[in-house]
Parts: sequence; structure tokens; C-alpha cells
Amino acid sequence: MKILVTGGVGFIGSHTVVELQKEGFEVVIIDDLSNSSVKVLDGIAAITGKTPIFEKLDLREKSKVQDFFIKHQDIAGVIHFAASKAVGESVEKPLLYYENNLGTLVYLLQELSKKDRASFIFSSSCTVYGQADKMPITEGAPVKEAESPYGNTKQMGEEIIRDTCRVTPSLNAIALRYFNPMGAHPSGEIGELPIGVPQNLVPFITQTGIGLREELSVFGDDYPTVDGTCIRDYIHVVDLAKAHVAALQRLLNDKNKENYEVFNLGTGKGSSVLEVIQSFERVSGKKLNYKIVDKREGDITSAYADTLKANEVLGWKAESTLDEAMKSAWEWEQKIRK
Ligand code: UD1
Repeated sequence: MKILVTGGVGFIGSHTVVELQKEGFEVVIIDDLSNSSVKVLDGIAAITGKTPIFEKLDLREKSKVQDFFIKHQDIAGVIHFAASKAVGESVEKPLLYYENNLGTLVYLLQELSKKDRASFIFSSSCTVYGQADKMPITEGAPVKEAESPYGNTKQMGEEIIRDTCRVTPSLNAIALRYFNPMGAHPSGEIGELPIGVPQNLVPFITQTGIGLREELSVFGDDYPTVDGTCIRDYIHVVDLAKAHVAALQRLLNDKNKENYEVFNLGTGKGSSVLEVIQSFERVSGKKLNYKIVDKREGDITSAYADTLKANEVLGWKAESTLDEAMKSAWEWEQKIRK
């Protein structure tokens, strides 16, 4: 069965392509390579023995998207990763984010709506919850006003899919709300490749560990948490990838369900920034250079997932510990800097 993975050479996309191929799906990737490298295809092939079909395409070009679906009539489902994801940049360039993240979503849904039956998986984010009132966060927690255009594209993206599903019974969709993905494939063939200075904690830590950055700035230590630093739910990217296969199986096989659903994807365990640093120090045997600085604007105190719905309904559970995920991130960092 043929599945389109947009953004399939990106960080989460490439790990998901591997898991799809392992389960016997035929994968077609669309990527514009704006934030990724085509070499990732070699990494995927080294793991699975199969090179996915690849088309370099900018999804904002509507006529090319239409042509693509005419060429690949047998696509049964789409996993849509392709999107811009830098919070700060989205504040500077809101229209770029609305066009990239929402215009393209509309074009894909228009094509899928023409089919007799189609499955769609959307990369959403725990950012839709803002600072939730209760931990762990269930899918029923209210969606809070978005802090940035990026966050807004995730909220609006979910609404666009929900509204489309309501009038399109042939379309079956799931939005996956990711917590904090990290790590790399244990084979060392694929991993995260941030361009420029990483905004996210884990790549900044591993780049500091390897000497590419002088020191990590820890954003604030007077939050009302165990040690004063923010709490997040860090999930191994391979666990996250496997959840996409579980969601796809549900879309393809389970006929007696609502045609639009949302799931949290996390481990259910919160870790503070200092705990993440300690994990790095344990697995690498190195001391990390860091200093405490002012809070980062827009950061929330705490976010970790209630994973019950994903565990029970998708039959999926995150397996890796923070140390295992950190070990894979560190091994990857060492490999790519050789
Ligand atoms: C961030 C975005 C979120 C987005 C996600 C995508 C913000 C406010 N949130 O999540 O909307 O979905 O990225 O990847 O930008 N930290 C440091 N020093 C650093 C970097 C991070 O102390 O150099 C801390 C942060 O304060 C935070 C934690 O590490 O407590 C994780 O940060 P990060 O990796 O940026 O993820 P989020 O902020 O959770």
C-alpha cells in the first residue's frame, strides 16, 4: 500500500519512513529540501534496504500538487510533516507560516477529498494546550490562545481538518500532538540535523558537549518546579515514529470510529532542564558547560502528556527512557561531527 510522507527527509519524517517501510508500506516522499538534505534517503535505505520514491516539490505550488496526485493515483494515505517550525521566525514572518503550514494543508485535503477513501495524519503539537491547568495533559484539556503564529498554524490546522472531515465521510484523519521529540535512530544512519544555532534543548546540549557551542543557557531557574527549571516530556523519535504507524493502522482498519481524532504523543513523564543535562552527563561521561540566564519569553512552566488514550486506543506506548534517547542523540552528534 502506497503512503505519501510529506517532509519525509526531515527529522521525524525520516524516522517514520523507516518504520513504515519495516511494516511493508511503500513510501513516496515529497520534500522541498528547505530544511533537510536529500542524503537522508541514503540513511533510510541503509536501515531498511529500500530507497523510498522521492519528489522534490514545494507544496505551495497547487498545480504541481494536483499533478502529483494524478501521477500517483494509488496513494491510500498521507502523513503530513512538511511545515515550518521555528517559533521566533513565525513571529517575524507570519504570512510565510500561514502559507507554508496552512495553504499546503488545504491543497492536500482538497486532493484527498476527491478519493473514495483516504487516510490523513497531521503533525500537531502540545503547544496547542499552552500552559495547561492540570498535569498530565489529557486530550480533553482546553486549547489555549496561541502564543505565536507557529502555534496558531497547529490549532488552525486541526480545525481545518476537523471541519473537512465533518463533511467528507470518505476522509479519515488523526492529529498527533507531539510533546518534545529527541534522539536519533539506533543504527546511527539518521538523526536530527538542525541548521544554524539550535533552538531546541537537546541538540543545543549535544552540540555544546562536542564543543561546537561554548555553553548552554538554561532559561530560568525560578519556575515553580522541583529544581526551578521548566518541565517537558521528552520522547524518543523512534517511539514517536512507531506511533504514526499505529495511527495509520487505525485509520486503515478500524471502521467504527469517528473520522477525526486527536492523540497526545509523549512518555507521560516530565523532566526538568537540569534533569536533561544530568542525563547527558550520565550517558556521555562529560560535564556540560551551562549557565542560568533569564527566562525565555513565551516559555511555559510545565507540559507532560497523559498517554492513556494513545496507549489504549492506538495500542502504542513509548518504550525508551530519557537516558536511552539521550544516548542515541549523543552518538548521532559524535558521528556527524567526525
Ligand atoms: C518549542 C516551542 C514549541 C514547539 C517546539 C517545536 C517555544 C516556546 N516552544 O517547545 O511551540 O512546538 O519547540 O520543536 O519556543 N531550553 C533552555 N535552553 C536552550 C533551549 C531550551 O533552557 O537553549 C529549555 C526551554 O526553556 C524549555 C526546554 O528547554 O524549558 C525545552 O525547550 P525546547 O526544546 O525549545 O522546546 P519547547 O520550548 O518545549
